[in-house]
Amino acid sequence: MNMKKRSWAEPYKIKMVEPLRMLSRREREKAIEEAGYNTFLLRSEDVYIDLLTDSGTSAMSDRQWAGLMLGDEAYAGSRNFYHLEETVREVYGYKYLVPTHQGRAAEHIISKILIKPGDFIPGNMYFTTTKLHQELAGGKFVDVIIDEAHDPESEHPFKGNVDLDKLKNLIDKVGAEKIPYVAIATTVNMAGGQPVSLENLRAVRELTAKYGIQIVHDMTRVAENAYMIQQNEPGYQNKTVAEIVKEINSLTDHATMSAKKDALVNIGGFLATNDPDVFEQARNLVVVYEGLHTYGGLAGRDMEAMAIGIKESVMDEHQKARVGQVHYLGQKLLEAGIPIVKPIGTHGIFLDAKRFYPHLQQDQFPAQTLAAELYVDSGVRAMERGIVSAGRNPETGDHYYPKLELVRLTIPRRVYTQAHMDVTAESVIEVYENASEARGLKMVFEPKYLRFFQARFEKL
Ligand code: F0G
Repeated sequence: MNMKKRSWAEPYKIKMVEPLRMLSRREREKAIEEAGYNTFLLRSEDVYIDLLTDSGTSAMSDRQWAGLMLGDEAYAGSRNFYHLEETVREVYGYKYLVPTHQGRAAEHIISKILIKPGDFIPGNMYFTTTKLHQELAGGKFVDVIIDEAHDPESEHPFKGNVDLDKLKNLIDKVGAEKIPYVAIATTVNMAGGQPVSLENLRAVRELTAKYGIQIVHDMTRVAENAYMIQQNEPGYQNKTVAEIVKEINSLTDHATMSAKKDALVNIGGFLATNDPDVFEQARNLVVVYEGLHTYGGLAGRDMEAMAIGIKESVMDEHQKARVGQVHYLGQKLLEAGIPIVKPIGTHGIFLDAKRFYPHLQQDQFPAQTLAAELYVDSGVRAMERGIVSAGRNPETGDHYYPKLELVRLTIPRRVYTQAHMDVTAESVIEVYENASEARGLKMVFEPKYLRFFQARFEKL
């Protein structure tokens, strides 16, 4: 075959730039020590390429910025709320909208409404804030994702899928009345940004419907998931991302959204539902925790930017470049033999810290160590997604020991160029070459909730 490989480029040009500063290696060593070897505690000014998260870090379009000027900052009934509501109905297909300041606020509210103490919430792997809100409401999270998701080397194209046997066994064991809903995330963040297939979601829907169990959809990265379905699920090659998003959503009852990811805004989220009773309860709780039900902790302008961002997020050419950039970085690392989670996910590259540092025990925090080493090497900021993020078992007080001990290089949308990806790849390769010298860390301060955000460490 004579197929010439052609390059592709971003479907936008850059109108405004934000200068970056690069510290010296000595300054970086000092900065990370002062931050307790926790990249969350670094100052952003001391970071060169910030791959901590794709949350709230994306670049808005000129249209979104223009939308900010259309903010209607009325306390009640802002026109931006109605625009957002109409957009959520049109693009996502959910009937009722309750805005919140970000995703976890929606998780808080839906957990309070649906979970009774003693309930079980099966899910396709945990997410930190989601699981915590389930636990605070008295529930217990049960992981029902397929085994492949816990294996960084498995190349299953839909590692976000639910293992139907695991789900069925849980229903048989505890009884359907103890399972208010199944939590389905698109894509699965902690597994490496891995998608769920529509075939699997349909099967989950069929099984749960028999028992009257609902589905709560964490739709934080649903458009990225839809793009992966378009690329890899038989029968979807000729569907648009927008069509696939709607089909995914139609198989679920309620949704929580962190609009700081897919939806291309710096702050915002919502709870959406098709159930008028849940809507009434959520509308009531949101005034307790967030703000009136037509702003939910957001300014009118934020809701306007979100409405515009939602539409941009489901455009095929946007997702092609967004996910394409992540794959560009991942491919470079794979070619250099770096151990990363395979297949490459949608929002970032996940380095397998266990294989970087086979000489470290998991309670010497290999992923935390790797994130710190990477920062010292190049000023690239990454995030631990391993034992620190997993927290402790509230019953025994022991660490959870997750199979995946990862460092996430998360790519903000529309922010960095492919040259930034090259610099990042070279730094990861350098740190990998020097891996045997890393010593590991000990935790010297541990907060009670979501410890990874504020824990402090010292070098062993
Ligand atoms: N669900 C998923 C899958 C997420 O990735 C996040 C946030 C949330 C819920 C919570 O949303 O931050 O708006 O309250 N993830 C960020 C991250 C923090 O870096 O992965 P939030």
